[in-house]
Amino acid sequence: MRISVIGCGYLGAVHAACMAKLGHEVVGIDVDARKIEELSAARAPFYEPGLDVLLKEVQETGRLSFTTDVSAAEGSAVHFICVGTPQKKGENGADLTYVDAATTGLLPYLSAGDVVVGKSTVPVGTASRLAVLVQAEQPDAHLVWNPEFLREGHAVDDTLRPDRFVYGVSDGSEEHPAVSVLDEVYSTPLAAGTARIVADHPTAELVKAAANSFLATKISFINAMAEVCEATGADVTQLADAIGMDDRIGRKFLNAGIGFGGGCLPKDIRGFMARAGELGADQALTFLREVDAINMRRRTRVVELARDLCGGSLLGKRVTVLGAAFKPESDDVRDSPALSIAAQLQLQGAVVTVTDPKALSNAARRFPELQYEVDTSAAVLKADALLLLTEWQEYRDLDPYDLGSAVSSRRILDGRNVLDPAKWRAAGWIYRGLGRP
Ligand code: UGA
Repeated sequence: MRISVIGCGYLGAVHAACMAKLGHEVVGIDVDARKIEELSAARAPFYEPGLDVLLKEVQETGRLSFTTDVSAAEGSAVHFICVGTPQKKGENGADLTYVDAATTGLLPYLSAGDVVVGKSTVPVGTASRLAVLVQAEQPDAHLVWNPEFLREGHAVDDTLRPDRFVYGVSDGSEEHPAVSVLDEVYSTPLAAGTARIVADHPTAELVKAAANSFLATKISFINAMAEVCEATGADVTQLADAIGMDDRIGRKFLNAGIGFGGGCLPKDIRGFMARAGELGADQALTFLREVDAINMRRRTRVVELARDLCGGSLLGKRVTVLGAAFKPESDDVRDSPALSIAAQLQLQGAVVTVTDPKALSNAARRFPELQYEVDTSAAVLKADALLLLTEWQEYRDLDPYDLGSAVSSRRILDGRNVLDPAKWRAAGWIYRGLGRP
C-alpha cells in the first residue's frame, strides 16, 4: 500500500520505517528540514535502539522516502498523522496546533477512499472534530483514530509487534470501510495474532488517555508507598515484589524512584484532567492531580536526600548525576526527572556534573548552565556524592570498588533502586535508596 506519515519525530520516524518494513511504500513528511535530511540519509535524528539499522534496511528496498513537501502525500491511500501534542505553555491542556496544521495541510491532497489515521495523543473529541474537516473536503475519505502505545527505547519492536490495535471509526462498527483498509496496513502483525478492537472515536481517544493515566497512577502508587516505607524503615522494593506476585496487580511499573517523566505521561495526565474539566467531568479525575503531586514530590525528596548525604549542605559540593534521559535507552530529556533534579541541586549551590551515554546534547540545549561530561570515569572524579538517576545498564554495572578510588567521598544515592545496597556498603559506601532502609 502507499502510505504517508506526517510528522517524523519519535513516533512518526519509527512508524514510517516500520510501515516500510511491513512491505508498504512509505513517504515520511515533516516541516523540519534537518530531520528530513538526516532521515533521508538513513540516520535516525534521535537515539532509538534498532532504528538506524531499520532505516538503512528499508531505504535500500526503495520503499521509504522523506520530504518536507506535504503534496507528496497525494496518491497515498492511508495518511498517518504522527505529530506532537505538547502541553500548552502555562496551561494543563494539550496544544493541538500541530495536529490541526497537519490535518488541514493534508486536505487538498486527499482522494476518494483515502483514510486519514490519527496516531497522536489527543483530547477526546478531536477525532470527531477533524472528521468533519476531512469529510467537508473529500466526502468519500475517512478519519480513524488509531492510538499508539509504543514505548521509547522499545519503539521499533512495539510498532512491529504491538500488543493490541485500537481503531476508532465514526460509527464504531466493524463494517466501517476504513476497518478493512487498516487491516490491510497491519496484515502482518494481525496475522501473527495481535488483538484488535474497533471502537468509536471517543472510546479510541480515551483508551490512550486511560492507559497512560493508569501507568502514571501505578508509578505514583508505588512512590507513595515509598514515602510510607521511608517513614517506617520498610523496603519498598520488597513490598513491590510481594504485591506484584498477585497477578491482578503485576510487578511491572512498580519501580519506586524519582518518578516518571518524558514527553507523554506527565503531559497526558494533565491534558486528560483539563479535558475532563471542559466536559464537566473534572471530579472523575481529581485523583490524577494527586498522582502528579506525588510524582513531583519525588524530585524535591531526592534533592533533600542529596543534601543529607552531603552532610547537610549542598554549597560547593561536587555532585555527579548519572543519567540525564527520562529513561534508559533514550536520548529524550523532555520533562526528565533526572535533569530537573540536577538543575535544582545546582540552584542550591552544588557543583553539578551530569553524564549520560546518549542524552547529553539534548540536555545541554535544555539546561546550558549545567556541566556535562560524557565519560563516566571523568564525570565521577573527585565527586562528593553520586546520584544514579537514569538506570542505564552501564550505571547498574558500576563496580563500587573501582569507583571508590575515583570519588572524593563514597556516597551514592540510588534514585532508581537498581543497585545492591549490601555490595555498595561492603565496599565502604554510604548508600541511600528511595523507600529503602
Ligand atoms: C509511555 C507509555 O508507556 C507508552 O505505552 C505510550 O505509548 C507512551 O508513553 C506515549 O504516550 O507515547 P514512554 O513515555 O516511552 O511510554 O515511557 P515509559 O516506559 O512509560 O516510562 C515513563 C516514565 O516512567 C519514565 O520516566 C520511567 O523512568 C518511569 N517509570 C516507569 C518509573 O518511574 N517506574 C516504573 O516502574 C516504570
